[in-house]
Amino acid sequence: MCRVIAIANQKGGVGKSSTSINLAASLAVLERRVLLIDADPQANTSSSFPVVDNENCTFTIDLYNYAKDSINPFRTLTPNLSLIPTNINLANLEIQEKNYFGTHHELKHSLEDLKKEYDYIIIDCGPSLNFITTSFLCISDSLLIPVQCEFYALNGLFKLFNVFKTIKQEYNQNLDIEGILITMYDKRLAFSNVIVDQIKNHFKTLVFNTIIVRNVKVSEAQSHRKTLIDYDASSKGALNYLSLATEIIENNKNDEMNNDSLGRNLNQILEEAKNENDLSTIFERLPINKENKDSNYISKNYEKLIGLSKKDIKSIFSESFNDFYSDVWVFRINEKISYFKKNYLYIHFTNQKVEKYELTVFKRRE
Ligand SMILES: Nc1ncnc2c1ncn2[C@@H]1O[C@H](COP(=O)(O)OP(=O)(O)OP(=O)(O)O)[C@@H](O)[C@H]1O
Ligand SMILES: [Mg+2]
Repeated sequence: MCRVIAIANQKGGVGKSSTSINLAASLAVLERRVLLIDADPQANTSSSFPVVDNENCTFTIDLYNYAKDSINPFRTLTPNLSLIPTNINLANLEIQEKNYFGTHHELKHSLEDLKKEYDYIIIDCGPSLNFITTSFLCISDSLLIPVQCEFYALNGLFKLFNVFKTIKQEYNQNLDIEGILITMYDKRLAFSNVIVDQIKNHFKTLVFNTIIVRNVKVSEAQSHRKTLIDYDASSKGALNYLSLATEIIENNKNDEMNNDSLGRNLNQILEEAKNENDLSTIFERLPINKENKDSNYISKNYEKLIGLSKKDIKSIFSESFNDFYSDVWVFRINEKISYFKKNYLYIHFTNQKVEKYELTVFKRRE
């Protein structure tokens, strides 16, 4: 049976296209018949393959104009991997159908035909929740969400979950979450692990075990119009994507069992999505929860600063007025506790690493 996986996150530059290309190529290497569809008018995925034969090949826009027997994907140099590339007409379609949200019947027919030919169809969506993205979500089996390992990574995810929920309730009740994929993990930044922990604590079983590391070969391969496996099969990135493909194949083998574990967590997340505009209140940039005045909670989190470098601290507290070379940095944390009290955090460095911290409340004179 064919599985249609849409790769989406309205946040730009989180690794959607890189994941689409390299997951598709990895599944193909593992001997699955794979079709990659470029559903982003930016055409990053299409341009990561050698020039496509314009004459006979079907483009993504053609899928919205169902004509049986005429769908002709482009055969890439990777065995088992075909591509439906995009061209600028897709952007025109986007403009025409600006206010449209829902199932597109011709697209659905086209996909039904294609599903007979492939084991996996991977769809690279653009960085918005527009007509094209939503129409593809209406015909997909699952949504794979790449999130970049950085602060604010999860901003906007509630919006994505709300769109997911609407589509599932009204247009495509089979739509599932394939998983949340952490991308561009950089072990040199000690804070990366804190972000990974936060994502895993919140999304639990929805998060893939595989994490994609930051690896320069990912962009190099694209500029050479090659998949990562073709460009450097032994690179960390290539191995990560192979491991992701294996994980997806395994998950789908135990389909029923897995759906249970996904579902348990998913309902809770969808429930929370109703009440929040954004995940930024849960995944605070600082290890401070503005809503939570419990000092134990705060100090427990500050422990995580110990041992971090100045660069790490700077990336956490981005608007810093501290002298980079000073060994004591100070930050005002929380909004005002009250009009008369302000809370400050002092960070003491020894040999460029955080040695200790202090929290001080200054009381203003009345
Ligand atoms: N694991 C990685 N290591 C290093 N660079 C990466 C990695 N993944 C992606 N990149 C680079 O980051 C940039 C953004 O990645 P990509 O184009 O895959 O994101 P995207 O979510 O598809 O972006 P858009 O929202 O614009 O479609 C690209 O230059 C890509 O080469
Ligand atoms: Mg992209």
